[in-house]
Amino acid sequence: MKSSLLSAVLALVPTAIAWKEVSSCDDIKYTSVTGFFLQDDPNTNPSTFDYVRKKFPIITRKILETYPTDAKFDPHHKKTQWQRFANYVDSLNDECKKDRKTTYKVLFMGRHGEGWHNAAETFYGTPAWNCYWAELDGNGTATWADAQLTANGIAQASKANAYYKSRFEQEKLPYFQSYYSSPLKRCIQTANVTFATLNLPHSHPFKPTIKELFRESISIHTCDRRSTKTQIHAFAPHFLFEEGFSEDDLLWRGNEDEGETSAHQVARSKTVMDDVFSHDDNTWISITSHSGEIGSILTALNHQAFSLNTGQIIPVLVKAELVQHTVEPTTTYAGFTTEPTCKSPPLTSISGQGCVCATATTTFTTAKATLKGEL
Ligand SMILES: *[C@@H]1O[C@H](CO)[C@@H](O)[C@H](O)[C@H]1NC(C)=O
Ligand SMILES: *[C@@H]1O[C@H](CO)[C@@H](O)[C@H](O)[C@H]1NC(C)=O
Repeated sequence: MKSSLLSAVLALVPTAIAWKEVSSCDDIKYTSVTGFFLQDDPNTNPSTFDYVRKKFPIITRKILETYPTDAKFDPHHKKTQWQRFANYVDSLNDECKKDRKTTYKVLFMGRHGEGWHNAAETFYGTPAWNCYWAELDGNGTATWADAQLTANGIAQASKANAYYKSRFEQEKLPYFQSYYSSPLKRCIQTANVTFATLNLPHSHPFKPTIKELFRESISIHTCDRRSTKTQIHAFAPHFLFEEGFSEDDLLWRGNEDEGETSAHQVARSKTVMDDVFSHDDNTWISITSHSGEIGSILTALNHQAFSLNTGQIIPVLVKAELVQHTVEPTTTYAGFTTEPTCKSPPLTSISGQGCVCATATTTFTTAKATLKGEL
C-alpha cells in the first residue's frame, strides 16, 4: 500500500519526467512548431533577414499576438510578448508531464561571426578556396586552421551581445538555462563575446558546454579540424567539455582527402539533438554553431531550410515526442567521401563536377567531387 502510494507521489514530481530514461526502444521524433518566429515563415527571405532589425523575431500577425494562455496569465496586458510566449511554452510542457512522451524546448542557434576562413574564401574566391587554399593552414599572413574571428566577426558577436542585453532587460526574454558550443574556436569566441559580459542572474550563469557534434561539416578544410582538448581549454578555461570529449580530433580526415557526407551530418545532428533532449531538462537553450551544422540540425528538426549569414541567430520552438523505433532503414550511405583538391591553385571549379586543377596531378575522381558552399 505504502510503496504504491510512494511511487504514485514520485510520479508527480516534475523532475521525474526526465527524458534521461529514454530507452533503446524509443526514438525521438522532432517537429518544429511553426507560426511563432519569422524564421519559420516561408515568406521570410533568409539572405536579407536580420534578427536585430526586427524588434522581435516573433511573428506579429494579428492571430499570434495573443496566446490561449494569456487570459489567465496577463489579464491586464502588462506582460511582454516574450513573457507571454514563455508562459505558453510552459503550459505546453505542463500538459506534457501527464503522458511523459512529449516535451518542448526553445532553441536559439547562433552562427559564429566572420572567421579568417570566411575572409580568405572571399579573398581567393570560392573555387580557389575550396580546391586549394582551404586545405592549407593559412597563407603566411592569415591563419585559418581552426580559424578565429576577424575584427568584423567580433563586431558581429558584440551586436549579438547588445541584442541579448536589451531583450533580457527590456523585453524579458527568458534567460538561457543551458549553453552549448561547437568545439571550434570561432564558435567558442562568438559565444564568449555574446554572453560572457552580460549581467546574468546567479540562477542562470553562462556556463557553456562544448559538444563535439555541434561542429561544422567535417570537410577536408583545415578550418573544420579542431584543436586538442588541452589547447581549447587553454583558449577558453571557463568552457566545460561534455563527458568523453577526446584529447585529439578523431573525426577529421582531411589528410586522407575525405570529408563527411551530408547524410552523415544530418544523422549525427539528430544524434546530438537526441543527446540534448534526453539529458537536459531545461527549456531555454542557446547553441553556438555553424551555417552548415545549423542547416543540418534544422533538417533533423524538420524545420524549413533557413541559411544563416555569419553572426545570425535563429530561434526554433521544438516539439519532441518519444516514438517506437521504426525498422532500421535499409538504405545505407557513405559516411565520408573523397573531396576534390588540387596541389596548386586551380584554374577553376565547376559546380557538380569539381576542381579543374592547373596540373594533371589531382587526387580525386571527378564523379565523386562535390563542391562545398560557404561554411
Ligand atoms: C592572406 O589571406 C588574407 C585573407 O584572409 C588576405 O587579407 C591576405 O592579403 C593574404 N595574404 C597574402 C600574402 O596573400
Ligand atoms: C571571454 O570573455 C572574457 C570577458 O570579456 C575575456 O576576458 C576572455 O579573454 C574571453 N575569452 C575568449 C576565448 O574569447
